[in-house]
Amino acid sequence: MKKQKILILYATRNGATKYCAELLSKKLDTVHEVTLVSTKDALPSPEEFDVVVIASSIRMGKMNKTLKKYIKEHKVALSALPTAVGFCCGLPRLFEEYVETQLPKDLVCSLGHHLFGGELKPEKLHGMDKLFVKMARNSIQTQDFEQSNADLHDLPELLPENVALLADKIKQLALE
Ligand SMILES: Cc1cc2nc3c(=O)[nH]c(=O)nc-3n(C[C@H](O)[C@H](O)[C@H](O)COP(=O)(O)O)c2cc1C
Repeated sequence: MKKQKILILYATRNGATKYCAELLSKKLDTVHEVTLVSTKDALPSPEEFDVVVIASSIRMGKMNKTLKKYIKEHKVALSALPTAVGFCCGLPRLFEEYVETQLPKDLVCSLGHHLFGGELKPEKLHGMDKLFVKMARNSIQTQDFEQSNADLHDLPELLPENVALLADKIKQLALE
């Protein structure tokens, strides 16, 4: 197995994306060399790595600005590498829409786009974040229950199983 140099970049506001990025890192760092970097720190260039994962939370319909800029600046290098993007969002039914609107159309993510789930837990938050999350929860819980799609009424959760699937995909690369 070839040891891979893996870069995981993440942007989090309330910890959910950090949790997923750390989980991914733990699943890979027993075998591979993982560099886990938050947008609070300087972001290394993708050229120094064999695999890149970019994980962002979604707020007000948008991914993190620093990561969006990073993707734009490094689009060619990222498209040439095995790259994956993961989103944490409180409204997972909009995941495809976020992929569509937040990523450049010509960015190639050969390792795919991944929904890492999300949390809407006002008890963990303060100020405007708390208010927003309370409203988002209420809107989910008061949707028209005549609609047959039960998924619409479920509060979101983190999806560590999707993080594990991405880790397996990356491990598979090392065997090829
Ligand atoms: C102010 C605010 C705005 C948000 N906007 C959205 C949104 O537009 N779409 C969505 O799916 N989730 C939205 N969420 C939910 C977050 O994506 C969810 O809580 C996620 O787990 C946050 O990840 P983080 O803890 O890494 O910041 C929002 C949450 C907050 C607090």
